[in-house]
Amino acid sequence: MRMPPELVLGYEEIDTQHRGILEAMERAAAAARAGDLPGTRAAVAALGDVLVGHFSAEEGFMAESLFPDRGRHKAAHDLFMQDFAQLGRELSGGLSDLVVQWVATRVPEWVKFHIRVNDSALATYLSSKRYRPAAYSVRSAKPQAS
Ligand SMILES: [Fe+2]
Repeated sequence: MRMPPELVLGYEEIDTQHRGILEAMERAAAAARAGDLPGTRAAVAALGDVLVGHFSAEEGFMAESLFPDRGRHKAAHDLFMQDFAQLGRELSGGLSDLVVQWVATRVPEWVKFHIRVNDSALATYLSSKRYRPAAYSVRSAKPQAS
């Protein structure tokens, strides 16, 4: 899948994870638009797993690199996950118009806004600090930034 250029931040680990989120959102939106309730439930659950993993990875990067705005950034993640949990409760009642709109529009709009505004600031900071995530630097063949 091709990422819209405005969502590419130039920080590889974060961009790769965002691509996975966009793909998971598209699967959920397609299932919801098709009226496929079991498919939507499965895709939303899978999306939730990807999001939780990604947010905790970013929060790890922010803590390790002492990103100054990490409190507000984490609060944005937490608020979003509260909304996402509410979506899960709505979804247990079936595929209402509200739920379809939530899955196909509200969630992707939040994620894209968050990437363009919050994550782009984080990616710029991490690059400026030459921060490399520990888990990736072990696996990476690239020379380590000093
Ligand atoms: Fe974020």
